[in-house]
Amino acid sequence: MLRSLLFAPGDSDKKMTKASGIGADCVILDLEDSVAATRKPTARGMVADFLRGERAAGVRFYVRVNPLDSGLTLHDIAAVVPAAPDGIVVPKANGPEDLRTVSHYIDVLEAEHALPAGAIALLPVATETAAAVFTLGDYRFDTPRLAGMTWGAEDLGAAVGASTNLRPDKEWTSPYQLVRSLCLFGAHAAGVQAIDTVMADFRDTDRLKVVCDEARRDGFTGKIAIHPAQVEVINAAFSPSAEELAHARAVIEAFASNPDAGTLQLDGKMIDRPHLVQAERIVALAAQLDKLGAAR
Ligand code: COA
Ligand code: MG
Repeated sequence: MLRSLLFAPGDSDKKMTKASGIGADCVILDLEDSVAATRKPTARGMVADFLRGERAAGVRFYVRVNPLDSGLTLHDIAAVVPAAPDGIVVPKANGPEDLRTVSHYIDVLEAEHALPAGAIALLPVATETAAAVFTLGDYRFDTPRLAGMTWGAEDLGAAVGASTNLRPDKEWTSPYQLVRSLCLFGAHAAGVQAIDTVMADFRDTDRLKVVCDEARRDGFTGKIAIHPAQVEVINAAFSPSAEELAHARAVIEAFASNPDAGTLQLDGKMIDRPHLVQAERIVALAAQLDKLGAAR
């Protein structure tokens, strides 16, 4: 489970190096929107070299390639896959069909470079075109390498000519609330983690905390970051608190001691199967984070 995924522009060695030591669970080395067209060939080589260097322990390294309709994707993939990134982020994906295409590209390079078949994950930014919105429930069918789903509001807004995607109170306008929810349910339907989109206003960490808490409440398990200052807030928000963990253990213990009970009471509140499922989720996440902490 990736709580924080921090973007670093692929043409900045300084930022790629810095991003690796911030505590983000994943660093996304970007070849797309944060790299100017003239810099893309340079950035490809820089990202591949960076991946071949010594990688920070306990951090996953993904690369965001350019979208399929740019004509650049194959060049990006050919440059970076031989350096064995942990995953590829596919922006402006029009649906799972685009991921199948990218997966086939990777298949060939994995074979050619004797990399473990199928090990490189795919993460689509699944809501950046109007057509994509109608496919969000389809990632559950035959989408190889799918590791999670995330959504984006900026490119979708540009695609439909929206003048803004935020209301005056900074909440998403309704079209973006809709795609946020569809991404959440699409990811869970596919059995992968739902990852919340970036908050561009990176200085406002108070607001970031509120947004992270809302995302976690709704079932997102991670969030994209664009600035180092966002990582700690995101990690904290998507980690179980000590109280949550204690409560989850108590729920599991209550059912374990009453194996024939479908429903029980704990501290004066009814608990049944959904509470047990949620408690098991929290304990599993805590165990995974302990392992990650030990690896770092
Ligand atoms: N990764 C690594 N380091 C970063 C970083 C990032 N995403 N964003 C900022 N930093 C570094 C800066 O280089 C600076 O380092 P220094 O103190 O050693 O000089 C420090 O953090 C403070 O940065 P700050 O001055 O607050 O911001 P900035 O003006 O340098 O950068 C952005 C602002 C938005 C340009 C920068 O955060 C960025 O490049 N973000 C990622 C953009 C991206 O990849 N977008 C694509 C996805 S939407
Ligand atoms: Mg974009």
